[in-house]
Formats: sequence, structure tokens, C-alpha cells
Amino acid sequence: MNLNNSLRRWVVVGAIALMTGLSASGPAQAAEVEVLHWWTSGGEARSVEELKRLLASQGVTWRDFAVAGGGGDAAMNALKQRVDAGHPPTAAQIKGPAIQDWGRKGVLANLDDVAAAGNWDIKLPRTVAQQMKVDGHWAAVPVNVHRVNWLWINKDLLTKVGGRVPDNWDSFFALADRFKAAGIVPLAHGGQPWQDLTTFEIVGLGVGGADFYRQAFVTMDPAAWRGPTMSRVIDTFRRLKPYTDKEAPGRDWNKATEMVIKGRAGMQFMGDWAKGEFLAAGKKPGSDFVCTAAPGTWNAYIYNIDSFAMFRLSDPQAVQGQKALASTIMSSQFQEIFNLNKGSIPAAVGSDMTHFDHCGQESSAYFVAASLSNTLVPSFAHKMAQSDNHVAAVQAIVARLWDDDSYAPARAQADLVAAASQH
Ligand code: GAL
Repeated sequence: MNLNNSLRRWVVVGAIALMTGLSASGPAQAAEVEVLHWWTSGGEARSVEELKRLLASQGVTWRDFAVAGGGGDAAMNALKQRVDAGHPPTAAQIKGPAIQDWGRKGVLANLDDVAAAGNWDIKLPRTVAQQMKVDGHWAAVPVNVHRVNWLWINKDLLTKVGGRVPDNWDSFFALADRFKAAGIVPLAHGGQPWQDLTTFEIVGLGVGGADFYRQAFVTMDPAAWRGPTMSRVIDTFRRLKPYTDKEAPGRDWNKATEMVIKGRAGMQFMGDWAKGEFLAAGKKPGSDFVCTAAPGTWNAYIYNIDSFAMFRLSDPQAVQGQKALASTIMSSQFQEIFNLNKGSIPAAVGSDMTHFDHCGQESSAYFVAASLSNTLVPSFAHKMAQSDNHVAAVQAIVARLWDDDSYAPARAQADLVAAASQH
């Protein structure tokens, strides 16, 4: 366990106090952490369990503040209400630029002492470390790195239709046609705005490449939204819809994954939290399902890093619990066991990947390779590239583009240009 000295002392003092039955006003009173997250699906819940278990072994109790809803929109609304009411949780699942937004409000804790004791500056890639700091001070800790641009395929169905794993859009649509001809739903989709947008950014990378993706989704350059490449992205995105089923609107992402797991659909575009669902259902990569980079994206990597930002607390005991939470998250033991369940890879550099399956090992290798070849890009849909409000405007247009067949592509593109111009 990666506990710093003062924390170790605290745990020992706490244990002795418990054994000798000291009064509840001293350190014997167990610290409690209240953590806001949106990890309620099968694979996600299994992953969170590991964190609870590791904290319990240190005498820290977990108060769950789970707000269901993939992508976290509902969770962020709940968080705003709590912080506005002056009663923040110990920690909340907050990512990307939102960490800075919360930091600027002056509500986040300073974790510099825990970070120094745990050598976080050396443990984490620089780009990741920078996102966890506000004005140079540690305020958040990363739990993982998810790759977003994956295509998941049911292996039995692939064999049944005599298809091959697609690596470009032509072979993808050829395979989708084979599924369709065999009476199988080719593409499992959950028609919720964040899932529409996740698919859209994957198509954006696959059709336009990493430089185009960066220009559109990271710098929000209206020229990229206006140009012919974006027209092709919109057309390809629209072409996917007839391969989905009529029940897709409103469906949760894990229900879509379940369709692929149970052989009711051939494929799904989704980040590798989907792998957590396959694993929770006892499925094995390679034999039961295929993980492959989405068409046209094998050498690029859309990353989505989950992290917990810590809120400033006044009660010393609550602060101790918070420090235990932060140092536990950064321990190698947690980073491995959590990510083996979650489908992601550890955030720490040089993590031991021997226990990970080939999807995880591939993700880890491509994270490094894409970083070196400048094809590593942050997820727009998962708010790693822009703050909520910029994402929300684009997300609404993309969701309409998916839902409303009478919304002309040219009109949608003009609306997207206008949204990007407000940036
Ligand atoms: C993402 C999050 C993932 C996964 C997914 C679906 O935004 O980063 O960890 O939980 O939502 O809930």
C-alpha cells in the first residue's frame, strides 16, 4: 500500500484506538469519504467495489453518491447543486478542463503533500499531471485512461456471416450489410445525445484523421466545421443509422453492449468501458468478442481520462479520509485491479501490463505510439477537450442530426459552424 508516513501513523493510531475502545471524538472515529460518480453499470460497479474494498482495509468508510447516467451529465448537475448549497462531497468524478473550472471557483483541495509523498510528478505523464493541477497545485487524481475509438464485434456472429474485421469504412459497411442480410442488427446503438456524439467523434477521427480532429474538436476552428471533410463525416455518420434497430432511442450504452454480448447485434462503437461489460458477463476477448480500432483509426487514439477532483473540507478527520482516498487511487495496486475491471489502462507511466488482455495491452502500446506520432487526441464527447457548455451546443446538433431524418445535412453543418464560432 502506498501510504505516506503521516497517513500510516494515522491508520496505526486509529487501529490502536479502536482496539482500546477510545472515545469517538479521537482518531478512533472512522473516517468517511463521500464520492460522487456515475459508475452504475455492471463493469463500472465492479470497478468501484475495488476502491471501496481498498479503503475499507484502511478503516475508511465509503458513502456512495452515485448518480446514474452514462457520460455523467446527470451527475454533474447533482454536483453543482451540492456545491452551491455549500456542502460538497469529499471527491467527485470530474474530468479534463472542468477540473480547472471548479478550481477557479476556489472549492478544490490542495493535495500537494500527498502528491509529494507519492511522487506523482514522476508517476504520471506530464499532460495528465497538468490536467490534475490548478495553478500548479494538485487538486485531482486520475484513475485510468480509456480509449474511445473502439469497435466491438460479437465473434460468433462474425464467423456466422463469414465476415472479416473491418479496418476502413468500406469494409465496415460491407460487414454491416452481411449482418443485415443475415437478419442480425448490424450496429447496437443507444440513442442518447452523449452516445450520438461519441459515435460522431469516432467517425470524425476515422474519416478526417487526427489533424482534422484536432482542428475541429480541440481548437474548434470554424473552417474545419465548414469544409468538405466535415461534410463527409456528417454523411458517414448519417449512413450508420439504418444499421441500428428501432428500439435504439433512449437506450443506455450498457444495454447496447448487452445486445452484442448476447448475440442480438453484431457490433458497437464505444469506448473501452464497454469491455468492462463483456468481462463482467464472463466473455473473453479474442474468443467471444473482438476489440478493434474503429475504421480508419488504428494509428490514432482518442483518450478519455477519468479522475476524481477533491473538494476543500474543514473537518480534519474528513481531510484524512480524503488523503487516504487520493493516495489509494494513485497506488499501483488500485490502478491495476480497478482497470482490469473497468476496461481501461492505468494512468501511471510504466505500469505493469502483464495481467491485462490483448485489448488493454494494445491500448497501452497505442497510447504511447500515438503520443509520439502526434495522433493522440482528447475526447470531445467526454469533455476532455472542451468544457461542458461548448460540448453541449455541438451535442444538441449532433443528436438532432441522428434523430431527425428531415434535418438536412447542409443545414446541420451550418448550425455546427455557428456553434463552433461561438467558442
Ligand atoms: C464516460 C466515463 C467512463 C464511462 C462512461 C459511461 O464519460 O469516462 O468511465 O463510465 O462515461 O458511463
